[in-house]
Amino acid sequence: PQEGKIRVWTEEDAINAWPSFAASAHKGIFGTGYIIAGSDHMPGSALLAAKGALRSGIGKLIIGTSQFASAILAGEVPETTYEFDGLEKTANGSIPKKLKAAAIGPGLENEDLIEQAVQTLLEGDFPVVLDAGALQKRRYMKREIPPILTPHPGEFSRMTGLTVKDIQSSRIQTALQYAAENEVILILKGEQTVIAFPDGDAIINLTGNSALAKGGSGDTLTGILTACLCTHRTIKEAAANAVLIHGMTADLWVSKYGVRTMTASDISDMIPEVMKNLE
Ligand code: APR
Ligand code: MG
Repeated sequence: PQEGKIRVWTEEDAINAWPSFAASAHKGIFGTGYIIAGSDHMPGSALLAAKGALRSGIGKLIIGTSQFASAILAGEVPETTYEFDGLEKTANGSIPKKLKAAAIGPGLENEDLIEQAVQTLLEGDFPVVLDAGALQKRRYMKREIPPILTPHPGEFSRMTGLTVKDIQSSRIQTALQYAAENEVILILKGEQTVIAFPDGDAIINLTGNSALAKGGSGDTLTGILTACLCTHRTIKEAAANAVLIHGMTADLWVSKYGVRTMTASDISDMIPEVMKNLE
């Protein structure tokens, strides 16, 4: 990759990048996000992503999931609207109008439908997050806003054919190389998440800890990221802030309750206190 800047994203950076709330604000300014996640077997993925998005300032959230999963979510996140069988509809080329950002992947199973749905979303002109089941080895068409991929090292191994050991031994360089070659934004998760951009820039995140090493933590990040993409001025700032606050919730949790008890739902419950410290 070409020479870019590699830097750590700080709380001060986050404060500067977080858009302020105008007194005249209405939900339209914060944007509508669409998250395709969850299935009959894994409704919780959609719920975790929804909670993450709702606590991170999204204006309106549409969840595309199965009817069964929608019924489970409705009582938990009444702020959300639903696109029943959103995966199937998106695979068939139909998506809600006026989206500011979209995400697909957590808790999805049907690879063929996922592949078609990813293609539909990438034909849109808004930022698209690909996570979990939507992360595969594939080629990306050039796109004005690069696709945003959020693999953990195991998923990155599946996407690249590299071993997890090789990935982990040079996380920054491997992420930057993939981002440049594929013209994508790569968020390589795990301790010290790396956000690599196709222009050669990388942002390193130092927040978070092993309290996040629990099922569902990544689904919550997908929700937070979708919200940040709806509200922030730039994709770089949105990605960096999402990863930063996700980690800060775990740091705050550990300072209060120790490292053992945190669950993925707790991430979203801690966001308000984290955000208070970023004003
Ligand atoms: N230090 C800091 N952050 C950590 C640590 C750590 N030691 N361990 C985990 N995290 C963070 C990661 O950076 C990431 O943001 O927690 C999150 C974990 O995300 P995932 O690995 O995607 O985990 P999960 O939510 O369980 O994934 C759910 O999707 O990715 C698939 O195979 C996965 O089926 C599973 C599902
Ligand atoms: Mg995951």
